[in-house]
Amino acid sequence: MSFTPIRVAVLGSGFFGNTLAMACKENDAFDVVAICDLDGDSAQELAARAGARAVIDPAELASAEDIDLVMIATPNHTHASASIAFLQAGKSVFVEKPLAITAEDAVAVTAAAALSDGHLLVGHVERTMPGIKRLFLEARSGKLGTLLEGYGSRSRLVHVPEGSEDWWKLDHTRSGGELLHEIHELDLLTWVFGEPVEIRTLAGAPRPAGARIEDSVHKTTLKFASGAVGYHELSTSAHVPDWKFRVSGTEAALEADFRTGWVTRYVDAVATEQWGIFDSGRANDSLRASAEKKQAYNAAGATGPYWMQAAVVCELEEVIAAMRGQDSVLIDSPATAVIAGVEAMVQAQTLRAQANVGSAASTDVLVGA
Ligand SMILES: NC(=O)c1ccc[n+]([C@@H]2O[C@H](COP(=O)([O-])OP(=O)(O)OC[C@H]3O[C@@H](n4cnc5c(N)ncnc54)[C@H](O)[C@@H]3O)[C@@H](O)[C@H]2O)c1
Repeated sequence: MSFTPIRVAVLGSGFFGNTLAMACKENDAFDVVAICDLDGDSAQELAARAGARAVIDPAELASAEDIDLVMIATPNHTHASASIAFLQAGKSVFVEKPLAITAEDAVAVTAAAALSDGHLLVGHVERTMPGIKRLFLEARSGKLGTLLEGYGSRSRLVHVPEGSEDWWKLDHTRSGGELLHEIHELDLLTWVFGEPVEIRTLAGAPRPAGARIEDSVHKTTLKFASGAVGYHELSTSAHVPDWKFRVSGTEAALEADFRTGWVTRYVDAVATEQWGIFDSGRANDSLRASAEKKQAYNAAGATGPYWMQAAVVCELEEVIAAMRGQDSVLIDSPATAVIAGVEAMVQAQTLRAQANVGSAASTDVLVGA
């Protein structure tokens, strides 16, 4: 069956807008028609490379007749209002994570999506990695038995570049806080187990004055309606890195280790099977190499590592499926992780305020993705 190309506009021509636009350009299922950024020079530069027109006013994308899908890759605090505007204009929306930085906004976007002719897809890219998708399908189809426990972690020492004091990624009011900005593993947990019925978060490690490393540690336990429990760890000050996602059931457990690039099945303490997080040896190698490196922010315009580009290729296949009315892992539970993350963040901020370790805005500093 032949399909007409999906006419796509990319909003935001920074680091990830570049990645998305150039990946779409390489995929025959897409026709990149517009690049929009408040920074006109940046929009022009990417538009020229993508073979698209440059736009400065996002409202032009909403009214354009030749756009089916808008991919939103702007700072996190702009996601909800932009998504709602495009959905109300009848466009499909792919919005980078997090969907929103407040629970109210996350719910408002899903409400707009319910009334729109367009699809709402959230950039939960880890869901689309082949090995993770298989882990999800096995967990949800009962192959692990009754699900008992989930574990997600992203812990490392993150270095913040000089001169980034006013960067939106370091500003809680624009990023939403670390638990939202780095929502990937929390999303995997809520994707597999559903909406948590109970959340408890502890947070600590205030930033020492003048430190170049932004310290932040969150430990969150979640209880799900089924009775299963989850544990989520996020740290930007961990000298021993950890980056995992695990689901354990009564019959077996599956553990994805992003630092080794493998998903392993365990039965009664024995590793019985392994598969790659990617279907590509080169992407798995790149993931391993990247996880071993010092972790730092990506500068705007920088190119992500190969595995990230490979992940976006997988992600686009899920976007295409959704746009053709087929199943897509990007459609499920778009707001659940944000609602859980906001609840956890509020608890973290309350604890910090009570402990008088500094204002939430100064200690709850964001790094990463
Ligand atoms: N899925 C992933 O692994 C991943 C990785 C990196 C970034 N991201 C997400 O991508 C998004 C963008 O991050 P980034 O690293 O590209 O940031 P960035 O700062 O490099 O780029 C943001 C761009 O948006 C533009 N912009 C700001 N406000 C705008 C507005 N209202 N309208 C139009 N343009 C506007 C800026 O001029 C800038 O060019 C974020 O939501 C981030 O969470 C996801």
